[in-house]
Amino acid sequence: MKQGTRTNTVIDAIQRKINSRALKPGEKLPSIRGFAATMQVSPSTVVEAYDRLAADGTIYARRGAGFYVAPLIQPFAVAKVGPELDRAVDPFWVSRQSLDAATDALKPGCGWLPADWMPHNQMRQALRSVGRAEDALLADYGSTKGADNLRRLLARQFIDEGLNTGPDQILLTPSGTQAIDLICRFLLRPGDTVLVDDPCYFNFQALLRAHQVNFVTVPYGKNGPDVDQFEQALIQHKPSLYITNSALHNPTGATLSPQVAHKILNLATTHDMVIIEDDIFAAFEPAPSPRLVAMDGLDRVIRVGSFSKTLSASVRCGYIVARPDWIEALVDLQVATNFGGPSPLAAELIYSVLSSGSYRKHMEALRSRLDTCRSEVAAKLAALGIEPWLMPRGGFYLWCSLPGGVDSADLAKAALAGSMVLAPGNVFSVPQSMGGFMRFNVSQMQDPQVCETLERVLRTVRSGIG
Ligand SMILES: Cc1ncc(COP(=O)(O)O)c(C=O)c1O
Repeated sequence: MKQGTRTNTVIDAIQRKINSRALKPGEKLPSIRGFAATMQVSPSTVVEAYDRLAADGTIYARRGAGFYVAPLIQPFAVAKVGPELDRAVDPFWVSRQSLDAATDALKPGCGWLPADWMPHNQMRQALRSVGRAEDALLADYGSTKGADNLRRLLARQFIDEGLNTGPDQILLTPSGTQAIDLICRFLLRPGDTVLVDDPCYFNFQALLRAHQVNFVTVPYGKNGPDVDQFEQALIQHKPSLYITNSALHNPTGATLSPQVAHKILNLATTHDMVIIEDDIFAAFEPAPSPRLVAMDGLDRVIRVGSFSKTLSASVRCGYIVARPDWIEALVDLQVATNFGGPSPLAAELIYSVLSSGSYRKHMEALRSRLDTCRSEVAAKLAALGIEPWLMPRGGFYLWCSLPGGVDSADLAKAALAGSMVLAPGNVFSVPQSMGGFMRFNVSQMQDPQVCETLERVLRTVRSGIG
């Protein structure tokens, strides 16, 4: 009999004793030598079997005293299954509820496309081709800035979009979130002040909290931040950093106008403030809109992005585009905190899909599918008295006002009880001024149950008000 098979025989024998309660929780297992003799195997086979049973938690070792059956596992706690219903509606709320939701939960509040809308055929093809790659790609650390081929491809793409840059000014990171975190480590110290939009992407707030900074906010309008209030905030609070999305802003879907962009950039220069332009939704625009980073020529504006919304949020990879001296400092920081760049395997998969001819066609089809879907969902929401604040040029969000007096946090909590995750306005608002708003992801609203559940919980919450 082979060694592996003998080990399995010993494991099965012990498992049978535990199942039949011949061995009870807490009870000592037979000695290694004794059980080896019983099973007619070598002591090393029993050692291996006990080690494997210990590794999966069935038994445990007491130093110098042998092996014991592990105590019974905790009773199955029904109350712990599914999302935590009583969690406070804070900047972590949507991420926690949507990332941990059951697979069949309705998720109009989440921030990604349904899996079957993603280019999974191209991704599978890329997976097959990396399967044939050299051993080094599957085994080694990558270079400090990340894969050359992907950085070169991105540089060409950025030049086409009017951003004059080269591969050396691009640093690949393990995700867009990690890119922002790295820049925050580089630029910020606890107690600094950071300017964000009201509303803004909730994870800017969550991440900045981890950096222990102070917030100052400026209302975000249909063409970008309110310029007068922006200037006042800079004079009064002297923020060292502003984080924003210029194109298809999360959550509003608005896009920065050229006039506002110029004013913002002039003010940032006058008041010596750095800007992170998070461009994660760039590929969803029907045509490129003005970018602070291009106007500024990569002096005080840093661009970050990732492929989570267009290719895969499972294959994690992001990037930073910045001036050369900052990139060098960021490389050191990334080595210190991550030892090297992102996974070379992830970068190769992304490169493979981006460089395939079918990616452009996929994105064209996706944009047009989203246009149709956006109009259809807007009409369904309007029938419930839920009105878009703006009809975005692209992307998958609709930022909507709720009918008379309904608080979006109440609605979101009620919806959670019906297995539906919503994104209530105040998770996007540092000053908590967005209680009457809700962000909807139109791509996650194809199932008629979404609007039916929404109508039902809306009725329940409104009857509570009335
Ligand atoms: C504006 C914005 N930036 C960054 C991210 C996160 O990017 P990544 O998945 O690459 O960490 C998201 C995800 O929802 C986002 O909406």
